[in-house]
Amino acid sequence: MDMKNKLIKLAREVSSKAYAPYSNFKVGAALLAENGTVYTGCNVENATYGATICAERVAVAKAVADGQTKFVEIALYTNTDHPESPCGICRQVLMEFAPDLNVIAACKSEEVSEDSLQSLLPKAFVLKK
Ligand code: THU
Repeated sequence: MDMKNKLIKLAREVSSKAYAPYSNFKVGAALLAENGTVYTGCNVENATYGATICAERVAVAKAVADGQTKFVEIALYTNTDHPESPCGICRQVLMEFAPDLNVIAACKSEEVSEDSLQSLLPKAFVLKK
Protein backbone atom coordinates (compact mmCIF):
# COMPACT_ATOMS: atom_id res chain seq x y z
CA MET A 1 0.00 0.00 0.00
CA ASP A 2 1.35 3.45 -0.88
CA MET A 3 1.76 6.15 1.75
CA LYS A 4 -1.33 8.08 0.68
CA ASN A 5 -3.59 5.06 1.13
CA LYS A 6 -1.84 4.10 4.36
CA LEU A 7 -2.55 7.56 5.79
CA ILE A 8 -6.19 7.40 4.67
CA LYS A 9 -6.57 3.96 6.29
CA LEU A 10 -5.06 5.19 9.58
CA ALA A 11 -7.27 8.30 9.51
CA ARG A 12 -10.35 6.15 8.92
CA GLU A 13 -9.41 3.78 11.75
CA VAL A 14 -8.79 6.55 14.27
CA SER A 15 -12.02 8.35 13.33
CA SER A 16 -13.85 5.52 15.11
CA LYS A 17 -12.22 6.70 18.36
CA ALA A 18 -13.58 10.24 18.03
CA TYR A 19 -15.36 11.58 21.09
CA ALA A 20 -18.18 13.44 19.38
CA PRO A 21 -21.39 13.03 21.42
CA TYR A 22 -22.57 16.57 20.59
CA SER A 23 -22.13 16.75 16.82
CA ASN A 24 -21.96 13.03 16.06
CA PHE A 25 -19.45 14.10 13.41
CA LYS A 26 -16.41 11.88 13.73
CA VAL A 27 -13.12 12.98 12.20
CA GLY A 28 -9.81 11.14 11.94
CA ALA A 29 -6.42 12.54 10.98
CA ALA A 30 -3.10 10.88 10.16
CA LEU A 31 -0.09 13.20 10.03
CA LEU A 32 3.15 12.05 8.40
CA ALA A 33 6.29 13.50 9.97
CA GLU A 34 9.50 13.96 7.98
CA ASN A 35 11.14 11.12 9.91
CA GLY A 36 8.44 8.72 8.66
CA THR A 37 6.44 8.49 11.87
CA VAL A 38 2.66 8.82 11.53
CA TYR A 39 0.70 10.56 14.28
CA THR A 40 -3.03 10.01 14.43
CA GLY A 41 -5.74 12.14 16.00
CA CYS A 42 -9.50 12.27 16.39
CA ASN A 43 -11.79 15.09 17.43
CA VAL A 44 -12.43 15.41 21.16
CA GLU A 45 -15.59 17.37 21.94
CA ASN A 46 -16.56 19.07 25.17
CA ALA A 47 -19.78 20.04 26.90
CA THR A 48 -18.75 23.69 26.55
CA TYR A 49 -18.55 23.14 22.78
CA GLY A 50 -15.83 25.79 22.55
CA ALA A 51 -13.24 23.57 24.23
CA THR A 52 -13.58 21.01 21.44
CA ILE A 53 -10.33 20.01 19.72
CA CYS A 54 -10.28 18.95 16.09
CA ALA A 55 -8.65 15.72 14.91
CA GLU A 56 -5.88 17.59 13.06
CA ARG A 57 -4.78 19.53 16.13
CA VAL A 58 -4.78 16.38 18.27
CA ALA A 59 -2.41 14.79 15.75
CA VAL A 60 -0.16 17.88 15.70
CA ALA A 61 -0.05 18.01 19.51
CA LYS A 62 0.88 14.33 19.73
CA ALA A 63 3.67 14.83 17.20
CA VAL A 64 5.09 17.93 18.87
CA ALA A 65 5.01 16.24 22.28
CA ASP A 66 7.00 13.42 20.65
CA GLY A 67 9.62 15.85 19.39
CA GLN A 68 8.46 16.02 15.75
CA THR A 69 7.75 19.43 14.19
CA LYS A 70 8.40 18.76 10.49
CA PHE A 71 5.56 17.31 8.46
CA VAL A 72 5.03 16.10 4.90
CA GLU A 73 1.35 15.39 4.59
CA ILE A 74 -1.87 14.83 6.48
CA ALA A 75 -4.90 12.71 5.65
CA LEU A 76 -8.37 13.40 7.03
CA TYR A 77 -11.24 10.98 7.07
CA THR A 78 -14.92 11.78 7.56
CA ASN A 79 -17.86 9.43 7.19
CA THR A 80 -19.43 11.66 4.55
CA ASP A 81 -20.33 11.36 0.88
CA HIS A 82 -17.74 13.95 -0.13
CA PRO A 83 -14.35 14.88 1.34
CA GLU A 84 -14.35 17.59 4.01
CA SER A 85 -11.80 20.31 4.43
CA PRO A 86 -9.86 21.27 7.58
CA CYS A 87 -11.29 24.13 9.62
CA GLY A 88 -9.60 27.54 9.64
CA ILE A 89 -8.01 27.11 13.05
CA CYS A 90 -6.46 23.79 12.00
CA ARG A 91 -5.16 25.34 8.77
CA GLN A 92 -3.39 28.00 10.81
CA VAL A 93 -1.97 25.44 13.27
CA LEU A 94 -0.69 23.25 10.43
CA MET A 95 0.81 26.33 8.75
CA GLU A 96 2.87 27.00 11.89
CA PHE A 97 4.88 23.85 11.25
CA ALA A 98 4.43 22.87 7.62
CA PRO A 99 3.71 25.55 5.02
CA ASP A 100 4.41 23.00 2.27
CA LEU A 101 2.06 20.36 3.69
CA ASN A 102 -0.05 18.22 1.37
CA VAL A 103 -3.63 17.88 2.66
CA ILE A 104 -5.53 14.74 1.64
CA ALA A 105 -9.22 14.36 2.47
CA ALA A 106 -11.06 11.06 2.14
CA CYS A 107 -14.60 10.00 2.89
CA LYS A 108 -16.84 6.93 2.69
CA SER A 109 -17.07 7.18 -1.11
CA GLU A 110 -14.12 6.82 -3.46
CA GLU A 111 -13.82 10.60 -3.77
CA VAL A 112 -10.52 11.98 -2.45
CA SER A 113 -9.31 15.57 -2.51
CA GLU A 114 -5.71 16.71 -2.36
CA ASP A 115 -4.65 20.31 -1.83
CA SER A 116 -1.58 22.19 -0.74
CA LEU A 117 -1.93 23.93 2.61
CA GLN A 118 -0.82 27.13 0.86
CA SER A 119 -3.85 26.94 -1.42
CA LEU A 120 -6.17 26.32 1.56
CA LEU A 121 -4.70 29.21 3.55
CA PRO A 122 -3.32 31.84 1.18
CA LYS A 123 -1.52 34.86 2.63
CA ALA A 124 -1.26 33.12 6.01
CA PHE A 125 -0.20 35.10 9.04
CA VAL A 126 3.37 34.31 10.06
CA LEU A 127 4.98 36.10 13.01
CA LYS A 128 8.29 37.64 11.98
CA LYS A 129 10.77 37.02 14.74
N1 THU B 1 -13.76 18.88 13.22
C1 THU B 1 -12.52 18.34 13.10
O1 THU B 1 -12.12 17.47 13.88
N2 THU B 1 -11.72 18.80 12.10
C2 THU B 1 -12.08 19.76 11.21
O2 THU B 1 -11.25 20.21 10.43
C3 THU B 1 -13.47 20.21 11.15
C4 THU B 1 -14.27 19.94 12.36
C5 THU B 1 -14.63 18.41 14.30
C6 THU B 1 -14.87 19.41 15.39
C7 THU B 1 -16.20 18.96 15.95
O3 THU B 1 -15.97 17.95 16.91
C8 THU B 1 -16.91 18.33 14.76
O4 THU B 1 -15.91 18.09 13.78
C9 THU B 1 -18.00 19.18 14.16
O5 THU B 1 -17.53 20.45 13.86
